[in-house]
Amino acid sequence: MPLGAIYPGTFDPITRGHLELIERAAYLFPKLTVAVAENPGKDPLFSLSERVDMIRNVTAHLKNVKVEGFTGLLVDLARRKKAAIILKGLRTVSDFEYELQMAQINREMHPEIETLFIPTGLDVNFLSSSMIKEIAGAGGDVEEWLPPGVAERLKQKFRY
Ligand code: PNS
Repeated sequence: MPLGAIYPGTFDPITRGHLELIERAAYLFPKLTVAVAENPGKDPLFSLSERVDMIRNVTAHLKNVKVEGFTGLLVDLARRKKAAIILKGLRTVSDFEYELQMAQINREMHPEIETLFIPTGLDVNFLSSSMIKEIAGAGGDVEEWLPPGVAERLKQKFRY
């Protein structure tokens, strides 16, 4: 059976770093699901449907990519989708410590699913959704770090 992969995250909002990883993963795997976590604990700026919608718009050119919102455990979603692989992007060593712990706990819950790490490209290594929101909220220009159309959605959020 061909390997299905899941790339999970909060994507609040999707950045050029996320998109770069989606494009690389779509090249590697015959089927890729971008799984958007509702993640109420992080109090996202964008609703789940807004985040899904933005990712669908910017991945429309990738025919083997599906975008889905989810609540609950990632391993339960992976089980439902019969996905064998969870993909995570790594920017820094501090990312690695947290991601390693998550991979290990997910493996305890569901040993048949493997987590694979992909190092992010140097040109997008410094990007984070939280920093981008902070800069945009303070009136900074963040367009170059976001896929087309996302900066405009961010501007609308901060316009009152
Ligand atoms: O983009 P993020 O916020 O770093 O992504 C984190 C995410 C969504 C991958 C993680 O919080 C997650 O898997 N959430 C679903 C709930 C879950 O399965 N938790 C168990 C692992 S701690």
